[in-house]
Amino acid sequence: KERFLASLRDLDDSVPPSKRVADRHAAVPAATSGHFTNSPDTDPAVAVNRDRMRAILARVPSSQLGTDILRISEKSALDELLGKAAAASWGAADRRAVLHRIGDALESNRDVLLEVMAAEAGKTIDQADPEVSEAIDFAHYYAELAAAEIDGATPVPARVTLVTPPWNFPVAIPAGSMLAALAAGSAVVIKPAGPAERCGTVLTGIVRDALAAAGADPALVTLLQVDEGTLGRELVAHPLVDRVILTGAYETAELFRSFRPDLPLLAETSGKNAIIVTPSADLDLAVKDVVASAFGHAGQKCSAASLVVLVGSVARSQRFRTQLLDAVSSLEVGWPWEMTTQVGPLVEPAAGKLLDGLTTLGDGESWLLQPRRLDENGQLWSPGIRDGVRRGSAYHRTEYFGPILGIMTADTLDEAIDLVNEVDFGLTSGLHSLDAAEVRTWLDRVQAGNLYVNRGITGAIVRRQPFGGWKRSAVGPGTKAGGPNYLIGLSGWAAGTSSA
Ligand code: ALA
Repeated sequence: KERFLASLRDLDDSVPPSKRVADRHAAVPAATSGHFTNSPDTDPAVAVNRDRMRAILARVPSSQLGTDILRISEKSALDELLGKAAAASWGAADRRAVLHRIGDALESNRDVLLEVMAAEAGKTIDQADPEVSEAIDFAHYYAELAAAEIDGATPVPARVTLVTPPWNFPVAIPAGSMLAALAAGSAVVIKPAGPAERCGTVLTGIVRDALAAAGADPALVTLLQVDEGTLGRELVAHPLVDRVILTGAYETAELFRSFRPDLPLLAETSGKNAIIVTPSADLDLAVKDVVASAFGHAGQKCSAASLVVLVGSVARSQRFRTQLLDAVSSLEVGWPWEMTTQVGPLVEPAAGKLLDGLTTLGDGESWLLQPRRLDENGQLWSPGIRDGVRRGSAYHRTEYFGPILGIMTADTLDEAIDLVNEVDFGLTSGLHSLDAAEVRTWLDRVQAGNLYVNRGITGAIVRRQPFGGWKRSAVGPGTKAGGPNYLIGLSGWAAGTSSA
């Protein structure tokens, strides 16, 4: 363990996490190397489940869940709340049992979580349901990691971990971050993203109730919503905050660092992700996976496919494009309370970069499918496909959080990999190929944290596909969420061993 913690100091963000010492050589804790059962999603083929889903969706338009948000606008109230969280008592021996109990509570509250995610965050039920499963998995998985890794080790001095999650995964990511911090022995202060406050409130309520039911102090998890600006800065820089787990834009990580240069910060940041399709690929499968990866949750995922790179004869023929166009044109766009919706709304009306991405073509580009605005507010857009994206263009290099996919072409796989590696980010990446030599070349060369062959590139599964990127997609110790080293990275690093 000592050697492993020492190695964390040497990490450098130019090394891909999959090749870092932290993820390759650290022994997998015995308790987690055996069987782990992921929580199953709700099966819509079962009639009773469909009835449940209809009942949830019927409640969505008038749902009031999570509207009781605690908003802080004064420094004295902030100090008091942080003080209370920091004083919450917490014994290492109880963590495993408490975390399992939280996992069970999340499962019992699945329907409530689905309702608030649809009502506030625009999530369709097929996207929201696996997110609840992921949150439950984090609880049970980190419970076992806590038992295996943390008990018996020197107590971790972190008092408060500040969790600042994003709005696009308003349950799984805040749950994963706060439960990891609890498992590592810290109290948590969570500040949900503005468009996901109600989801954060409901989630935190469930976790606090479970803590209380297990005999732990509910103040171990405190939610607060501060006015952005001054109080955001006060919160990040507060002396009781020992570390921050952020999921958001790379610029936000930089902003946090500007508030406090020595801040132990674990951040999962932006992505600009591509799927390469070679002539050896099963094109039917490739189309299906590209569509799901690009347009699930209307493309509002850091993990989403924003580019597809067609190689050689796939680029020259029209077959892939025709199939893709057919598939994307058939997607149902609508509101999340409609059971048939496949592409839901943008959480916020398209503006700035995204509006440009949805409306403006770059040099040499053409619309294979032009996106259309379907509501007055600019939240509902039919999906778009831009063809002929040029190397080095704005579309090639910029993250657009919306229902838009670009097509690039390359003569060879190597050239395609160069195109993928030229962006500043390295989060997820995909290859569709049935040629083992191509797969090996791609695995050796591509610069991204999560690599997927012949499947979609979103929806990482806890314990099976630890999640995290490199380059500008990650800041911090480089250990991956839902993976065997996440807690040890978190605790070693809070003890002052961060390379960040
Ligand atoms: N962990 C999420 C995914 O894999 C972001 O899609």
